[in-house]
Amino acid sequence: MSAQFIDGKAISASIRQEIREETARLAERGIRPGLVVILVGDDAASQVYVRNKAKACEELGYHSEVVRLPAETSQHELLGLIERYNADPAIHGILVQLPLPKHLEEKPVIDAIAVEKDVDGFHPVSVGNLMIGDDALLPCTPSGVIELLKRSGISPAGKHAVVIGRSNIVGKPVSMLLLRENATVTICHSRTPDLPAVARQADILVVAVGVAKLVKKDWVKPGAVVIDVGMNRLENGKLAGDVDFDDVVETAGWITPVPGGVGPMTITMLMANTLKSCKRANGMG
Ligand code: GUN
Repeated sequence: MSAQFIDGKAISASIRQEIREETARLAERGIRPGLVVILVGDDAASQVYVRNKAKACEELGYHSEVVRLPAETSQHELLGLIERYNADPAIHGILVQLPLPKHLEEKPVIDAIAVEKDVDGFHPVSVGNLMIGDDALLPCTPSGVIELLKRSGISPAGKHAVVIGRSNIVGKPVSMLLLRENATVTICHSRTPDLPAVARQADILVVAVGVAKLVKKDWVKPGAVVIDVGMNRLENGKLAGDVDFDDVVETAGWITPVPGGVGPMTITMLMANTLKSCKRANGMG
């Protein structure tokens, strides 16, 4: 039997509808969520991401600012801009698009963002809050994965979740969130011996390594939930995930397609974080 698709586009659309309704209710009280996206340089993929973020803000009725800075912007100038937005009451979320040009250091930039406006969830205090289970703004792709599971009626509680990948952006935080949802979590990486055998133990397999079509059907327990965070551009121009979808689809019980699985959730969760931050700033949660 073929796996059921986890439709990230449809789930994302229904979350955005909920956000739209809540934003309209806030507007009646004169409250409007605000997001600033800062882009340094002219990386082509980043330009597309930034445009999509601004478009999402517009569609939801948010206040949106996009600051495009030249590639040669100094660290000092960038930190000064962040300081300004930290103090701006119309802005509830600050996102500095990564990667930054080589001469800029990422860490001091992320550290400079006010924790309450850290809608990426990358600030060390946000990461610490996630780790100890305190209320935090959660990183967008990992929280998108958890939303996909919940809204598909899949509970991680008591399940064995295997995460392949240990990045700060996806692998580590998604592991922590699955643990918070009472899964037993195994984190694998490039030095894990016999990766297919470990993956095969998973009830929920999350793959975030950036290697096209790495995961084959003999890596998947029959009926398992397979969440593919990968987005790899093939030589023919097509997008492929980290999972060999055609090979795995008959074995898995549930699977996210690429595109249309995890991808659409990332900006949606960014919008959810901005709304959450706005409500907090107005004493509503
Ligand atoms: N570049 C690619 N993905 C992301 C993201 O989620 N946040 C930021 N800030 N930069 C990115």
